[in-house]
Amino acid sequence: MRTQVGIIGAGPAGLMLSHLLHLEGIDSVVLETRSRAYVESRVRAGVLEHDTAQLLADTGVGARMRREGLVHTGLELRFEGVSRRIDLAALTSGRGITVYGQQEVVKDLIAARLAAGGEILFDVTDVELAGIDSDAPVIRFAHEGTIRELNCLVVAGCDGFHGVSRGSIPASARRTVEHTYPFSWLGVLAQAAPSAHELIYAQHERGFALHSMRSPEVTRLYLQVPNGTELSDWPTARIWDELHTRLATNDGFTLKEGPILEQGVTPMRSFVTEPMRYGQLFLAGDAAHIVPPTGAKGLNLAVADVRFLAEALTTWFRQGRGTGLDEYSARCLRRIWRVQHFSSWMTGLLHRPTDADEFSHRLQVAQLEYVTTSTAAATTLAENYVGLPLDWSSRVDTPATPAVPFA
Ligand code: APR
Ligand code: PHB
Repeated sequence: MRTQVGIIGAGPAGLMLSHLLHLEGIDSVVLETRSRAYVESRVRAGVLEHDTAQLLADTGVGARMRREGLVHTGLELRFEGVSRRIDLAALTSGRGITVYGQQEVVKDLIAARLAAGGEILFDVTDVELAGIDSDAPVIRFAHEGTIRELNCLVVAGCDGFHGVSRGSIPASARRTVEHTYPFSWLGVLAQAAPSAHELIYAQHERGFALHSMRSPEVTRLYLQVPNGTELSDWPTARIWDELHTRLATNDGFTLKEGPILEQGVTPMRSFVTEPMRYGQLFLAGDAAHIVPPTGAKGLNLAVADVRFLAEALTTWFRQGRGTGLDEYSARCLRRIWRVQHFSSWMTGLLHRPTDADEFSHRLQVAQLEYVTTSTAAATTLAENYVGLPLDWSSRVDTPATPAVPFA
C-alpha cells in the first residue's frame, strides 16, 4: 500500500487531519486499532471551542453539530453557595462554545471520509513504524490476518496517549514535561434533563463538581475524587448525594436525577512531549500532550495541532517548501503551553487541594471573587475558555522551548 500521509489513530486528531488533507487534494490512509463501533461510542469530552465548531462547519462536517449541538454563550462559577455567570460572548466579542460529544465529531468525520472515498482501516494490530528518519517511512501492521506495509512520505502520529508513535522517537531525541495531580474525576452520564442551561463549575469544601450536558435529555456530571478511587466505592446513591451537596446554592438549586448510563474514573495529568517532530514523523493531539480536563481543552488542542500540520503539509506537497513543517512543533507548543497554563489554573481555582487549609481556601475564594467581578480577570478566563484565535501567538517571538532545559 502507498499513500502520501500515513495517519495512525482515528480519534479527532487523525480523522480531522485526513479530512483537511483531502480538501487540499492530499491522500492519506488512517489506521486504527479499535473497531468503528468502539470509536463511535466512546464517551469523551464534549465542549467545542468557537473556532473548532467553526472549522467543522466551514469544512462541510458541521451540519449535524449545528442541528444537535448546544451553543452556550456563558458558564456558571459556583462557590460559597452562590452562582456567578461568566458572560463568555460579552467578554469575547460574541464568541462561545458548542456542547457536542467528541464521539459525535468522530462519527461525522468518519462518515465524511468514507463518503469521499477515504481509506480508514479499523481493527488493525501490531502497528510499527520504520524509517521515520528517512524520506521513505513505512508503517507495518496486521489487518484481517495479514501483515501489511503502508509506504508513505510522512507519518502523522495521532494515536493518543497510549499509542506507539511517541515511543518510536528515540528517547535521546525527545523530552517530556509532566505533572500529575493528586485527584481524579469520577464522571457519570445520566438520562436526565440538564438542571441548568449552562455548564456549572463548582468549588466546594468537599471538592470540585461539574454540571455539563450532552443533549436536552442527557446530563454529564463530574466529581473530584482521590486518586485510586474505585467505582465500587461509589454506589449510585452516594454519587447523587455528593453531587447534590457540592452543587447546592443558598437559593435552592435543584439537581435533576436520572438513570446512570455510564460512569468512569479518570486521573488528571499535564504532559507535553517536545519536540513534536522526528524526521518524517509528526505527533498531534494526545500522542504529544495531555491537559487536565477542567478547561475542556483536549479535543480542541488536538484540532489546533492538525490545522497547523495540514497547512504545513499542503505547502510542502504543493510547493516543496518545508519551512512550515520545520516550524510545526514550535508553533504547536506555544499554544499547548498556553493551554497547559489555563487548564492547570482552572484546576487550581476549583479543586480542593489535598493539603487544604483555611489559608488555601481563602485564597481560592478571593480568586473566584475576583474572576467573577473584575472584567479584566473574567476576560482572561473567557478568552481562553472559548479558545484563543489560531494565530494568537504570532505576536510572540520567544522560543517555546527554553534554551536551557530543566534537569
Ligand atoms: N495504532 C493505531 N491506532 C491507535 C494505536 C495504534 N498503535 N494506539 C491507539 N490508537 C487509536 C486509539 O484507539 C484512538 O482511537 O488512536 C486514537 C487516538 O484518539 P484519541 O485518544 O481520541 O486522541 P486524539 O485524536 O489526539 O484526540 C484528543 O482525545 O483524550 C481525548 O478527550 C481527549 O478530546 C481529547 C482527544
Ligand atoms: C464534558 O461535558 O464532558 C466536559 C465539560 C467541561 C469540561 C470537561 C468536560 O471542563
